[in-house]
Amino acid sequence: APTAHAAPDTDRTQVIAHRGASAYAPENTLAAIDKADDLGFRWVENDVQRTKDGQLVVIHDDSLNRTTNVEEVFPGRAPWKVKDFTAAEIAQLDAGSWFSPRYAGAHVPTLKQYMNRVSRNHQKLVLEIKNPALYPGIERETLKVLGNEGWLGPAHVRSKLVVQSFSADSLRTVHALRPDIKTGFLGTPSVAELPAYAQFADQINSSHTTISLGYVTAIHALEGPHRKPLEISTWTVDTAADARRVAGFGVDGIITNKPDVVQEALNEG
Ligand code: G3P
Ligand code: CA
Repeated sequence: APTAHAAPDTDRTQVIAHRGASAYAPENTLAAIDKADDLGFRWVENDVQRTKDGQLVVIHDDSLNRTTNVEEVFPGRAPWKVKDFTAAEIAQLDAGSWFSPRYAGAHVPTLKQYMNRVSRNHQKLVLEIKNPALYPGIERETLKVLGNEGWLGPAHVRSKLVVQSFSADSLRTVHALRPDIKTGFLGTPSVAELPAYAQFADQINSSHTTISLGYVTAIHALEGPHRKPLEISTWTVDTAADARRVAGFGVDGIITNKPDVVQEALNEG
């Protein structure tokens, strides 16, 4: 049902807050998706990985030390890989102070906590399965959490969820498990290779430095697994000039750390 947060879904180019509004709040925390919400953005992107004890958590790097105080809390545990820490250990870490003292006490959210907040904010999610080769079985586990949190019903699958990955194998697995879920391949396959990707991916999500009008046109000329034109969301676009450039190519989505900057550029045309 429409809410005070109703999304501007009629806009041609969807703006997606990369790791949340991560230029303004610590990436992949609940504060970062709240910030996107405060700025009026419905779509957020995240990165999902797995702890030693099999919990799914939202964090970009495969190690904890760039975005938490793990080196202080667990000094003897280099190289501080996510997969070598339990969820209880990770829950003790401060994932906000590295960004700004204002965010001291922010945590690395579990996927369950994250989904609760995305739901509460009436947001939509591009969920990235990160480093799946490190986490065999993470696709099925991710879908289990999404299902438990009410995100695999028809309304969510139709318009609120995309699962993306740099791993074609991971996306093929997701597509085989739940063919109704929209998927996005991260990368820039050659135009000749695109039809093979269109068997299991609804989107080709490429770095903005790798695309052209011709490439975007080639993507749109194909149909994805749901018999709709293949789409492209491009990343990570943080300047008005780049936003205007890729909007001129006709991209469907722009993934950005600065959603306000990109939206303003789009509004100005
Ligand atoms: O959503 C696209 C982008 O997130 C892919 O790169 O390294 O930021 O996960 P990365
Ligand atoms: Ca990502």
